[in-house]
Amino acid sequence: MMVFKVAIIALTAAVGCVQGQMSDEELQRLLSGLENRPTALEKRVPLMTDDPTVAPLIDQQLFAPPVVPTGGESCEVVLLEHSFGDGSYGVPAVVPYSPPSDPSCGEVGQWAAISLNLSVYSIGTQYDRFGSIYLSHVEIWHTSSAEPTKTGTIWNTIKDVTHFTPLFAQEGDLLMDFTNIISKDLLLDGVFDVTITATFYAPTSDFGTPATADFILPLSNLSPNTSNLFVLDSDEGGTTDVSLPANTTEAYIEVFCSGNSAEEFWYQNTPDEYLSYIPESTGLVGKGPFREVQVLVDGILAGVVWPFAVIYTGGITPSNWRPLTSYGAYDAPTYWIDATPFLPILLDDSTPHNITLQVRGQGTDGASINSNWFVSGSVHGRVGNGPTTGRMTVYLAEDAAELEVTGGASADNSTLSTKVVGKRHLKIESELQTAEGVIYVSFAQDLGYQNDGAYADDGWLQWTNQSTTGQTVSTHNGRTVLRDAFDYPLQVSSNYSLYELQYGGYGSEISQNYARAIQLPTGPYQSFYSTQHAKGWIGMDDWPGLRHAINGTGETTQEFAYIDGRGETYFRDAGAKNDGWTHDLVWGTLRDADPPVPDKQIFGPGGGPGF
Ligand SMILES: *[C@@H]1O[C@H](CO)[C@@H](O)[C@H](O)[C@H]1NC(C)=O
Ligand SMILES: *[C@@H]1O[C@H](CO)[C@@H](O)[C@H](O)[C@H]1NC(C)=O
Ligand SMILES: *[C@@H]1O[C@H](CO)[C@@H](O)[C@H](O)[C@H]1NC(C)=O
Ligand SMILES: *[C@@H]1O[C@H](CO)[C@@H](O)[C@H](O)[C@H]1NC(C)=O
Ligand SMILES: *[C@@H]1O[C@H](CO)[C@@H](O)[C@H](O)[C@H]1NC(C)=O
Ligand SMILES: *[C@@H]1O[C@H](CO)[C@@H](O)[C@H](O)[C@H]1NC(C)=O
Ligand SMILES: *[C@@H]1O[C@H](CO)[C@@H](O)[C@H](O)[C@H]1NC(C)=O
Ligand SMILES: *[C@@H]1O[C@H](CO)[C@@H](O)[C@H](O)[C@H]1NC(C)=O
Repeated sequence: MMVFKVAIIALTAAVGCVQGQMSDEELQRLLSGLENRPTALEKRVPLMTDDPTVAPLIDQQLFAPPVVPTGGESCEVVLLEHSFGDGSYGVPAVVPYSPPSDPSCGEVGQWAAISLNLSVYSIGTQYDRFGSIYLSHVEIWHTSSAEPTKTGTIWNTIKDVTHFTPLFAQEGDLLMDFTNIISKDLLLDGVFDVTITATFYAPTSDFGTPATADFILPLSNLSPNTSNLFVLDSDEGGTTDVSLPANTTEAYIEVFCSGNSAEEFWYQNTPDEYLSYIPESTGLVGKGPFREVQVLVDGILAGVVWPFAVIYTGGITPSNWRPLTSYGAYDAPTYWIDATPFLPILLDDSTPHNITLQVRGQGTDGASINSNWFVSGSVHGRVGNGPTTGRMTVYLAEDAAELEVTGGASADNSTLSTKVVGKRHLKIESELQTAEGVIYVSFAQDLGYQNDGAYADDGWLQWTNQSTTGQTVSTHNGRTVLRDAFDYPLQVSSNYSLYELQYGGYGSEISQNYARAIQLPTGPYQSFYSTQHAKGWIGMDDWPGLRHAINGTGETTQEFAYIDGRGETYFRDAGAKNDGWTHDLVWGTLRDADPPVPDKQIFGPGGGPGF
């Protein structure tokens, strides 16, 4: 992807397969929910209109609405209102946070649920910008913006943040970074007007207070006035000193991560071994398409993340993503590992301790990644009635994933193909002595990866098929406390053959799935299935010059399914074309929590007024 804008075998023993893969039955439940659409909704006739002005345009990333009690008491608190405009580059909004005191919110720290509503309005022209939100220096939201319209665009995303209850129960600072640039010269005038509202729900007789963490520690740079995540552009990670209470019995780590700049399209970066087959002038980025986010305790690998590729609203072909974005654009998925097996190390008070988040890629010349990755996280701990001691009994974790890179070019170098195959088996076990008795902890990850790349026309044409699958399972005395089974297939074909022409252009066709069954230590079982197909073309002005998109086409369809452990469901079949919604059907028990876009936003199968 252009940016305009060795085998290692387990040490001591073969590691068995982790039992935890998403079962056919789990996937089938999601798929049959999508099949089983209500007939009443099918009869809804989309509003057809030749009026091109639906102002503001409702833009959305599909998400599963938070599950909250019904019929109980709740309260809404505005946490932040801020305009990110001129001067907001690298200058976050910071406001004090206090737990809500209104009795209808419920007792502080005893909430049944907390949800956040991130609402953004923008009018004008703007690129997609990255945003992140922190409470007491712990990242709670990894987001990005729409590319707004000149008649106004609004997007609301609701996120369940109940698992951050210990942070919401104490005084702190809320910090939001939404680095934006306003520039007459660049014709960028889209300001982001942000409102963040929190809703606190008191427990009810059939919806109690969930068992969240007892304490949460940030894995971040802790800055009082800049974005708190680590900006990583080399193999050097971001390290946070940590000190856990001596009575800690469980410690989980949540990780937020995203590739940006030369790493925005990491899944299309070319292996260094084959970069020289493409003329340098095409501007392909090297260091290969494989990325692993690593979590280290005192420099020892404790677990890894093989991330889902979030495509931002300006990603690959911007006209693909308005008004329906790619999955994760406004609320990026997060990842969990269980660091409990490291408690014997972390609780040894003879030395200080730290946790490092770092990213490993495939560069063969020094640093294995390009610039840059945005990474942060937090430790979610639980305590018992006395000090924890113990010992690690099994440690099977290589420093790097097992990777195999192959490829080859045609005789005249006119076509190139590359293949990267990766896998990893990791298993870490400990025996802990706690006031509550002996706890046997077993944490395992079993991950697979394949990326097939093809290139033609000096690299201006590129095809990528990537598959990332795996499962993470952790058990404490045989009880599953964490399970994450996922499958993230991605297919991208991009065509920049006419990019350098005056009034040239570029386009793409993208298919992406997100299938995930996750049992969090601090939340209910959840399963997700999203399948998206997008295709579009952007026409540009002069070359060289500002290279604005002057017209284009774009179309995205998406089916989204959610089922959780409480039996709540949410299904959606939506589509957008040429800057308007074509259809939007929503069903399931959570339908009303994020209903379809209003009828007047639906243009019908022909799509919107165009770009
Ligand atoms: C989210 O906030 C926006 C702006 O305050 C509001 O218009 C919208 O109704 C809210 N959505 C929900 C589901 O509360
Ligand atoms: C940001 O915080 C640092 C550390 O407290 C301080 O040195 C610096 O002056 C602050 N910068 C601004 C612009 O407030
Ligand atoms: C193809 O590219 C490779 C790598 O740069 C180079 O060694 C080889 O000579 C090239 N072959 C032709 C026919 O240009
Ligand atoms: C983290 O802890 C390890 C083990 O004590 C130590 O060797 C290392 O220097 C520490 N790293 C940082 C960046 O402080
Ligand atoms: C756990 O240790 C912390 C810190 O020492 C202490 O404040 C807390 O009361 C302890 N909790 C229990 C349940 O013993
Ligand atoms: C990607 O998969 C499609 C469908 O299976 C196939 O037609 C195409 O050749 C593959 N592309 C690459 C680069 O492997
Ligand atoms: C790339 O796009 C151009 C312009 O639309 C088109 O002529 C060409 O056939 C496309 N190439 C491929 C391989 O689709
Ligand atoms: C985009 O604009 C260019 C230059 O005016 C024109 O040649 C092209 O046909 C337009 N394309 C579309 C899809 O409107």
